[in-house]
Amino acid sequence: MALHVSVKFRCFVLLLCLQLVSVQIAVATSRPIAKPGCKDRCGNVSIPYPFGIADGCFLDEWFKVTCNDSLNPPKPVYRGLSVSNISVLDGEMTTEVGIATNCDDQHAADDSMTFLGKFTFSNKKNKFIAIGCNTVALHKATNGSISGGCLSICTAKDTFTNGFCNGIGCCETRIPAAISNLSVTVEDINERKNMSFNLCGYGFLVEQNSFSFSSPYLKDFKSKGTGTVPAVVDWTIGNEKCDDAIRNSTSYACGPNTL
Ligand SMILES: *[C@@H]1O[C@H](CO)[C@@H](O)[C@H](O)[C@H]1NC(C)=O
Ligand SMILES: *[C@@H]1O[C@H](CO)[C@@H](O)[C@H](O)[C@H]1NC(C)=O
Ligand SMILES: *[C@@H]1O[C@H](CO)[C@@H](O)[C@H](O)[C@H]1NC(C)=O
Ligand SMILES: *[C@@H]1O[C@H](CO)[C@@H](O)[C@H](O)[C@H]1NC(C)=O
Ligand SMILES: *[C@@H]1O[C@H](CO)[C@@H](O)[C@H](O)[C@H]1NC(C)=O
Ligand SMILES: *[C@@H]1O[C@H](CO)[C@@H](O)[C@H](O)[C@H]1NC(C)=O
Ligand SMILES: *[C@@H]1O[C@H](CO)[C@@H](O)[C@H](O)[C@H]1NC(C)=O
Repeated sequence: MALHVSVKFRCFVLLLCLQLVSVQIAVATSRPIAKPGCKDRCGNVSIPYPFGIADGCFLDEWFKVTCNDSLNPPKPVYRGLSVSNISVLDGEMTTEVGIATNCDDQHAADDSMTFLGKFTFSNKKNKFIAIGCNTVALHKATNGSISGGCLSICTAKDTFTNGFCNGIGCCETRIPAAISNLSVTVEDINERKNMSFNLCGYGFLVEQNSFSFSSPYLKDFKSKGTGTVPAVVDWTIGNEKCDDAIRNSTSYACGPNTL
């Protein structure tokens, strides 16, 4: 009898847990949730907890987002980077990052440096791209310990294939895992100068589905590289395990990267 009751009770508890979990999943997938009393949007972008805008709305300083209301629409900014998407389920955030350039008509090459501090650039969802003729783009962690890159060559003007970043006019590679502070530089090897169809070399990290090579980019990409491209950032909650986060009712903050 006692056993029977105990089994029943356990089943009840299990059922309750399952229900709670499914409610949480339903809530998390239907819409992102800010802390009660906190603004959950900035312009077109949802700002779910653990991120937040006002004091008391974010988990800690690493999750603080500012909303630039003087822009139309207002834009969320994370550590100086414009944010276009925050996903709690994936533990990802999409930010706009700069483009490194090296142009014939400018005196100095323009490097691109991005400081995430603690979060890291996804090495699965981003590609590292160089565009240009006889152009080398290099990526390195700003602590100097890791470096890599790719080389793009042009032999003739009509050898490019739109949609293919195959080393002719465009090359691509990956960055290593766990890079938070990224520096990108572009150098040209001999004979790029004076190619009327390619004044600049470019190097940048970009969300892989957001970039497809097109030969006009050789002439001009994103206003000579003064624009930005989207890149995916992986974020995690401190060193805290997801279990602890659930106990503290921060369950929505448990992306796969936190496990
Ligand atoms: C905001 O999002 C809506 C729906 O996705 C879109 O139609 C609109 O153009 C966006 N507004 C701006 C200013 O980006
Ligand atoms: C908002 O954006 C504008 C234009 O980029 C910039 O000049 C201004 O400093 C920003 N304001 C804040 C509070 O970040
Ligand atoms: C936001 O990011 C998530 C994960 O990276 C993705 O699944 C989702 O489609 C993105 N949403 C928008 C509106 O881009
Ligand atoms: C990234 O740069 C910041 C300073 O901007 C520094 O505090 C932090 O330790 C750096 N992170 C890594 C992993 O190098
Ligand atoms: C430099 O950064 C990389 C990636 O963030 C990290 O793996 C490495 O341990 C760091 N090295 C030093 C000396 O801080
Ligand atoms: C470009 O080519 C012209 C003529 O071929 C030459 O006079 C000029 O010095 C070249 N400019 C550069 C930057 O190499
Ligand atoms: C979770 O709760 C523990 C104990 O109450 C506390 O030490 C910890 O800082 C909390 N973590 C968060 C993310 O609130």
